[in-house]
Amino acid sequence: MKRPLKIAPSMLASDLGNVEKEVRRIEAAGVDLIHVDVMDGHFVPNLTFGPDFVATLKKLTPIPLDVHLMIQQPDRYARSFIEAGADILTVHLEAYHDVKRTLEIIRGMGCKCGLAINPMTLFQNCGSLLKKVDLLLCMTVNPGFGGQPFIVEVLDKIRQAVAYREQHNLNFDIEVDGGLTTDTIGPSVAAGANVIVAGTSIFRKEDATAAVKELRARAAEVSAGG
Ligand code: DX5
Ligand code: ZN
Repeated sequence: MKRPLKIAPSMLASDLGNVEKEVRRIEAAGVDLIHVDVMDGHFVPNLTFGPDFVATLKKLTPIPLDVHLMIQQPDRYARSFIEAGADILTVHLEAYHDVKRTLEIIRGMGCKCGLAINPMTLFQNCGSLLKKVDLLLCMTVNPGFGGQPFIVEVLDKIRQAVAYREQHNLNFDIEVDGGLTTDTIGPSVAAGANVIVAGTSIFRKEDATAAVKELRARAAEVSAGG
């Protein structure tokens, strides 16, 4: 089964002084999700958004919110982000929590859940957790900052995830996040990713609609075997 491609611009690269205008710009570009990078200054050396920002976005747009928690204690904050309007809530395997339990809390609140792994984390470490997730996020940069180069070695992990999904008859999406451009989207989709996070290569372009169209075109070339 071919999974639909979803483009998820990361608000981290948007002009935060003009959030509404930025949301309208990506709505016009026809994106599928809005990616929100939450950082706590502990799990990663950077600080970004809290639940209020998610609530603000929720009021502005019907586009589903894909919230990526790069925080040390996701179990402590999951509820607040879901109440604020997260449609998919993704937590890191490497954070300090009982991952299985956190995923249960998220699902129990009727929210989709995702598991994220850093570039250096082996796919094998996910184990049976993948039986309970809607999404596996394979970080293609070390989390913390936008605008970093894509780590090509992660492609192998995506292929492993695809094989595991088939073997075990599972149904999770595979998301890539970090360094996605018109050059790196093709190899990512060819490896098996179908949810594409892109900050710099959408928001930092004058014409976001053209940028999204170009990303989709590159992905389609691969899907068509080109
Ligand atoms: C990194 C974040 C990414 C990042 C992607 O910690 O998780 O979502 O914003 O940004 P670009 O597309 O600029 O690499
Ligand atoms: Zn992210």
